[in-house]
Amino acid sequence: MIAKVIKEHTHLAHTQVERRIGRLLFDPTLCAGRYCHILQRFYHIHSQLQEQFELYPLTRQLMKDRSKLSWLQQDLVALNCDSEPVSLAGESCPGIQLQGQAAALGAMYVAEGSTLGGKVIAQRLKALPWLNVAAGCPHFFQSYGGARGEKWREFLEVLNGYARDNPQQQRAVLSGAETTFRFFKAMFVRLKCSCPA
Ligand code: HEM
Repeated sequence: MIAKVIKEHTHLAHTQVERRIGRLLFDPTLCAGRYCHILQRFYHIHSQLQEQFELYPLTRQLMKDRSKLSWLQQDLVALNCDSEPVSLAGESCPGIQLQGQAAALGAMYVAEGSTLGGKVIAQRLKALPWLNVAAGCPHFFQSYGGARGEKWREFLEVLNGYARDNPQQQRAVLSGAETTFRFFKAMFVRLKCSCPA
């Protein structure tokens, strides 16, 4: 099944991105300003991905109840931030182009899988004194709430079915996942860990 292959294939990429984002989010000096920069980057990533998912029938159908943008928006509003990522030292934010339905499904594997780590992240963030837990924050890192496991299983069923019916597209699915992990990495590589004292 492709779910097993894709997991093995992207194991190293996941470790790298998890380490990078973990270092940013679990930094003991994390302040609201830096957290806002992190969320703005996630907003950029998911709005870029969503645009691509809308181009193909299967990912468009799946996206109907999988958008992460309103959760990100709620978290940003709670911090009085807008959704535009702050440019760092003249950098311009990268974009992503996915070539076809198969690559878009591979990208969606990454976007949907990233909700799985959200549970661990949300638990740690809730200890931050400036986070408005009473208002339901962090919304984004609690994506799908109690339905997280079910949404993931549902997605994997579609992914496995697609790869079974289109075996010649397996390579394109893997390549879409690789491109997407690189996109996440590129978006966080320049962000510094510490908040100004
Ligand atoms: C601090 C950040 C992160 C942590 C702590 C984390 C942690 C985890 C954990 C614990 C799982 C396994 C959950 C389970 O099997 O029930 C998981 C799965 C996954 N994560 Fe992350 N993650 C993080 C960030 C990310 C990011 C940013 C992405 C996307 C770029 C990502 C993509 C995935 C994917 C695709 C899976 C599914 C792997 C599979 O096929 O089973 N993760 N993550």
